[in-house]
Amino acid sequence: MEKVGVLLVSYGSRAAAIADALCRSENYDVRIFDADKQKNPFILEKAAAQEIGLDTEKILNFAKKHRDEIDFGIVGPEGPIIDGIRDVVEKETKIRMICPAKEYAIERSKVLQRHLLEKCCPDANPRFKVFDPKDRPGKDELRKDVWAWLDELENNAVVKPDAPATGKGVGVWGDHFSTREQLFAHFLTCYEHGAVIIEEKVEGEEFSLQFFSDGKHLIATDAVRDYKRAFDGDLGANTGGMGSYKDAGNRLPFMDQKDWDDALEIGKKIFDELKGDGDSPSLRGIPLYMAYTCARDGVKVFEINSRPGDPEMINLLPVLKDDFVDVCFRMLDGTLTGLNFARKASVVTYAVPMTYGGYRKKFSGDNKVDLSKAYELGKKYHDSIRIYPGSMELRGKETRALGSRAVCAVGIGDDIEDARNISLDGIASIDGALWNRWDIGSEGHIKKSIEHMKSLRR
Ligand code: GLY
Repeated sequence: MEKVGVLLVSYGSRAAAIADALCRSENYDVRIFDADKQKNPFILEKAAAQEIGLDTEKILNFAKKHRDEIDFGIVGPEGPIIDGIRDVVEKETKIRMICPAKEYAIERSKVLQRHLLEKCCPDANPRFKVFDPKDRPGKDELRKDVWAWLDELENNAVVKPDAPATGKGVGVWGDHFSTREQLFAHFLTCYEHGAVIIEEKVEGEEFSLQFFSDGKHLIATDAVRDYKRAFDGDLGANTGGMGSYKDAGNRLPFMDQKDWDDALEIGKKIFDELKGDGDSPSLRGIPLYMAYTCARDGVKVFEINSRPGDPEMINLLPVLKDDFVDVCFRMLDGTLTGLNFARKASVVTYAVPMTYGGYRKKFSGDNKVDLSKAYELGKKYHDSIRIYPGSMELRGKETRALGSRAVCAVGIGDDIEDARNISLDGIASIDGALWNRWDIGSEGHIKKSIEHMKSLRR
């Protein structure tokens, strides 16, 4: 079998899913060179070499050291993409990278995203206003401007910092604050660090599409629903995502086919605008991972990212029928004209450490996590379960949970309920002081989404 070396720039369970998809290749013998945030036990077991640290220089030196063994690189997390890891590695080592170049890391600015949408799909862009400290208004004037804009929006507002904050800087009227003073206090904590958008809150149900590209073609994937809030019933603060589900087809139970088609059209328009007249290999990778709201009057864009979603990509890779290494080569060669996914549903449930989200101030218990019983479920469910450690680290022979989302269990089934049961069996088999949501992809949650859309569109 042909040997292929891959530089994997990793962070968390999403990277474990990418490593798994690469190593399951039936056409290539894959060797992974892992530049990682921590000693991820899953990736470490598969890796030929591992380097800890995600700053550009560290990754570059690691790539240089192994340049003769590496055929291409692929990147998961947004930080290195925004910092221009592709530009630097390609320039200094000639290793071709699968991720957008720095200029296309559109995730770096929500203001830029809103302006781009204004230009190519204004109907999908909620009303917004940018407040920029560079304009230097006095505090009283700033407050007056914010109040005037809230009058126009009838308080139905979302506050978003311009710079990426992994979803956690976003504050929503009715969810995170119920008075203007609370909203303004949140606004000021963001404004201290740079521009802030206050945009119209769009009522509806969220979903996302992730798009693969070789710089010429744009390939949309099935819709995925992320669960951003910390607790069951969508309570608590926003997190990086506590879990996600996809259905067997391309849309979710609360969506019409038209919603998916419209979301695709919006993605295409943005891609065409970014690409310009020619092809743009600089857009190679996942140039768009678009978060939408299914609203009363159609699909609106919530935000645009330029990387795979975490957990959303974890819903997709296990059901990809194509050999993922071949997909990577097609992205590199400009020949990615389509992708084949199995008609399967998948549910990802994350388990997180006791102090995640700051709800428990201190946990002085043991952070050891034993995944062996969860892995053993592979004997029962075969290819329908995956256990992907994320913010975990191998210390000696033990695996320890760190501060962020520790491990996810992926269930794959003919429908969402099947997939969810497998995912929850995986979660229940993990031995460690972790917690999780129990309602990811639950019948009750989905029913609520369906009823919500019905009442909006009645
Ligand atoms: N699931 C949210 C994100 O990847 O940004």
